[in-house]
Amino acid sequence: MMKKYKIAAIPADGVGVEVIDAGLEVLHAIEKRDGRFECEVEKFNWGSQLYRQTGEMMPTDGVQQLRSFDAILFGAVGAPDIADHITLWGLRLAICQTLDQYANVRPTRILPGIQSPLRNVDGNMLDWVILRENSEGEYSGQGGRTHKGLPEELATEVSIFTRAGITRIMRYGFELAQSRPRKLLTVVTKSNAQRHGMVLWDEIAAEVAEEYPDVTWDKMLVDAMTVRMTLDPASLDTIVATNLHADILSDLAAALAGSIGIAPTANINPQRAFPSMFEPIHGSAFDITGKGVANPTGTFWSIVMMLAHLGEQEASERLMSAIEHMTAQPGCRTPDLGGSANTADVTKAVVDALR
Ligand code: NAI
Ligand code: MG
Repeated sequence: MMKKYKIAAIPADGVGVEVIDAGLEVLHAIEKRDGRFECEVEKFNWGSQLYRQTGEMMPTDGVQQLRSFDAILFGAVGAPDIADHITLWGLRLAICQTLDQYANVRPTRILPGIQSPLRNVDGNMLDWVILRENSEGEYSGQGGRTHKGLPEELATEVSIFTRAGITRIMRYGFELAQSRPRKLLTVVTKSNAQRHGMVLWDEIAAEVAEEYPDVTWDKMLVDAMTVRMTLDPASLDTIVATNLHADILSDLAAALAGSIGIAPTANINPQRAFPSMFEPIHGSAFDITGKGVANPTGTFWSIVMMLAHLGEQEASERLMSAIEHMTAQPGCRTPDLGGSANTADVTKAVVDALR
């Protein structure tokens, strides 16, 4: 029987539009190759253009409209003429928080043919999954500003750490580590300087660790973590960190694995009460928008994660192999990887590999 999935596509801004077009081409190719499922894709024209027309990044009932989908494929938001906190909170964070996509999973690996800026490091030595707490912490949106424009103007940006929020992300982290061959988890913290929230974070990590005796785990201060990622990448496997810490570490990870254009991410609602959302980690990249040279690999890899989440394991693995087949070809490097291929060349190479 043919399975059917309803996919919401939100290309949004800048290169988001280009990489989602490429991604949908690849999605339809894998669907055809597999022959056992069909994706019915609905596109939403939300984003900065809509904001310029209506003052809103998406309609008031936008998130409600997404609830009936099986998964969401997201491009990127951000425009040079609109403040970043408006575009980000108006669309991406509004979706993640309302659909309780609290686990943000970010695999990082050096794909075949891709050169890491780290000397002598390849895919055997750098194979990580970073798990980002995606619903609270430093990006909970708590705070305010008073006395605007006056010398005594002040602003607060309050981090929120809850027992429930930390416990669920730690469990997800230990389970993710348990599902990987090395069963190794590093808990990133900053409890030396942040002596309330991060201390609770550490305590709950230790409590949850007792439920997973087969997982080896350690704790690392976030600043020292940047050094370890750079100098001893093979000592890491699964990593769990707060919303802010993981945001920064995963950009570093993406760069160490060759380019921010390759890295994927999944915003998961583990209970499956709401659809999960899949997206490349990069932003709208206005510096290259419209040139047709955006690297779509991060979007393709996000589709790999989406297919796995939907239960299409075989199609997911087949698509990953096609991506690796593409990256191994010297002619398939976009400018971010030092080559001169464009988005269409890379997309065609993956589609051809799937046939
Ligand atoms: P960015 O990720 O858009 O760009 C950083 C650098 O990476 C640029 O040089 C860009 O050309 C390059 N790059 C990004 N994606 C690429 C791709 N697919 N292929 C080749 N090169 C690529 O980050 P930036 O410049 O800090 O932010 C631009 C806008 O994007 C801002 O408005 C920001 O708020 C937004 N943003 C949105 C995100 C999202 O929607 N999830 C994430 C990060 C930033
Ligand atoms: Mg980021």
